[in-house]
Amino acid sequence: MRTQIAIIGAGPSGLLLGQLLHNAGIDNVIIERRSAAYVLGRIRAGVLEEGTVRLLREAGAGARMDAEGIVHAGVQLAFGGISRRVDLGAHANGRTVLVYGQTEMTRDLMEAREAAGALTLYEVDDTQIHGADSAHPALTFTLNGQRERLECDYIAGCDGFRGISRSTIPDSIRREYEKVYPFGWLGLLSDTAPVSHEIVYGAHDRGFSLCSMRSMTRSRYYIEVPLDEKVDDWSDDRFWDELRRRLPEPYASELVTGPSLEKSIAGLRSFVVEPMQYGRLFLVGDAAHIVPPTGAKGLNLAASDVNYLYRILLKVYREKREDLLLKYSSLCLDRIWKAERFSWWMTSMLHRLSDNPFDHRIQLAELDYFTGSTEGLQTIARNYVGLPYAAVD
Ligand code: FAD
Ligand code: DHB
Repeated sequence: MRTQIAIIGAGPSGLLLGQLLHNAGIDNVIIERRSAAYVLGRIRAGVLEEGTVRLLREAGAGARMDAEGIVHAGVQLAFGGISRRVDLGAHANGRTVLVYGQTEMTRDLMEAREAAGALTLYEVDDTQIHGADSAHPALTFTLNGQRERLECDYIAGCDGFRGISRSTIPDSIRREYEKVYPFGWLGLLSDTAPVSHEIVYGAHDRGFSLCSMRSMTRSRYYIEVPLDEKVDDWSDDRFWDELRRRLPEPYASELVTGPSLEKSIAGLRSFVVEPMQYGRLFLVGDAAHIVPPTGAKGLNLAASDVNYLYRILLKVYREKREDLLLKYSSLCLDRIWKAERFSWWMTSMLHRLSDNPFDHRIQLAELDYFTGSTEGLQTIARNYVGLPYAAVD
């Protein structure tokens, strides 16, 4: 088999890149280790920046998002028994975010790809990358018990944090930066009305909480738990009780509870690999970086990497601008490190960092300071709606 761009991974990064390239007449094949149903079963992010929204529209996969996504012009920060609103529109030049689940976005991209007749090979095993630093890169993998070879011009490693692409970059070149946090998020999805029409990020001396939604009848809640906590030890009732204790009024008494549709624990991590390119291999999304979810940046960073790689490849094929390939890594990393900083900061400001009450009082002072001044609100709002994309030239 031969294609122009071989894409490893059918998560949001791989599917979005594949669709944009396909629409531009650049041939690509996606290979994915899991089944489509498995990929769609993962409940993950829910907040899209305007840059991500624009890319989905550009990919021709934005119709359902535009119909069903919920525009949010503000978020709430709850602490010390009160809740303060960050008016995104007022403090970030009228910009907003869109609440639309990663699952839905993934489904829309899968359907668009199928309608376009572009090839995705699911349930492949033992993917290997060959000749990433040569003029003739290729992938080999096992499909239906048969070893296959896919030759290409370039490889996009969109295979997530546990993929194989990153380790293809030799140790002598690759630098990894990592911070693992001593807590995780226990998430619960339920068919109940959201407690607030805006997302609520809560700091409490019992730990962080987050109230989000997928629609006006489906809610997504998270609470901070110790890293060694087991999901099975958390009945729905225990979850709701703990969430209620961490929320200020009126949220605590207005919380509508119900049976969980899904419950899972995710660890929190900050991670960046440099560089994100090795020869003809390009790392995209979680394959290259992880943020703790507190700033809602993971999926949006994946989209901004896709933006840069797509625009570079367009100019490579249309204008023979091979020089741009060497700019991919630095274009991405400039924005990534700023989102890493914001996610780390939001995490530090909102989670229970230690048993020392001093730490919590400092967090309350920090929250009061940032939500009590125009400059503070601008800092939060401008980062939350997403920093601008740089031009590719
Ligand atoms: P992924 O979605 O991980 O996709 C990678 C794909 O590659 C997978 O489908 C995988 O099966 C496939 N793959 C891996 N190895 C191979 C191989 N060898 N061969 C072929 N295919 C392979 N972000 C937020 O902003 N907010 C959140 O609340 C949030 N919650 C999260 C919860 C969890 C449990 C996780 C893991 C992430 C969460 N994120 C969240 C982050 C966000 O979901 C990711 O940033 C986003 O999924 C990145 O997309 P991606 O396509 O780069 O990677
Ligand atoms: C959601 C997840 C986040 O990480 C976040 O910051 C906001 C919302 C969500 O799943 O809805």
